Amino acid sequence: AKIKQVEFVKSSARARDCPKDERPEFAIVGRSNVGKSSLINSLVKKKEFALTSKKPGKTQLINHFLVNKSWYIVDLPGYGFANASQSMRTDWSSFTKGYFLNRDTLVSVMLLIDASVPPQQIDLDCANWLGRNNIAVTFVFTKCDKVKGGKGSRKDENIKQFQELISKYYQEPPPWIMTSCVTGLGRDELLLHMSQLRNY
Ligand code: GTP
Ligand code: MG
Repeated sequence: AKIKQVEFVKSSARARDCPKDERPEFAIVGRSNVGKSSLINSLVKKKEFALTSKKPGKTQLINHFLVNKSWYIVDLPGYGFANASQSMRTDWSSFTKGYFLNRDTLVSVMLLIDASVPPQQIDLDCANWLGRNNIAVTFVFTKCDKVKGGKGSRKDENIKQFQELISKYYQEPPPWIMTSCVTGLGRDELLLHMSQLRNY
């Protein structure tokens, strides 16, 4: 499951511009500012690999990163940032939905959910759409360092509520992992999970 080598391959504005080889890939998806780029940086153990920013909406393209020359991590634009115009939002959904529905090499969408806040409607909408379209999903709860751990913490409550609210969209509850880019929580578990999904 170890990442020995990673290289940026390309940024694509449309699904049909993505790399055309048969390597399996995982799409990192979530609300703007949820920590997508930070998670990628933490997985590959490079600080500035996928560009992170406090300013939402930084990642605007489909970015392919090739890992160990054998599989891809894909960084997608965040959805739902407050200042996006209606046309930007429509663009987001048409181009990413096109990608989800047509990308045969997509093994699982890694849907990032901020564990430090209660379930957000836009995340529920995204989970609903992916579930109804039978797209394989793994829930990756981010920022688990920001809320106190232990029994009955707000983080556990937020995660439990989210899972209850999306259960009706899925035949089987999707796998889920708690992570933090600050403490490294969940990093190894996530890498192992992805290697099991790839079958090697
Ligand atoms: P867009 O590219 O705009 O969609 O955002 P993104 O999802 O890539 O978020 P990004 O990785 O840029 O992180 C947004 C902010 O959240 C940054 O200030 C990060 O430092 C912070 N952040 C990300 N992950 C964590 C985490 O695990 N814990 C804490 N405490 N902060 C985090
Ligand atoms: Mg980003």
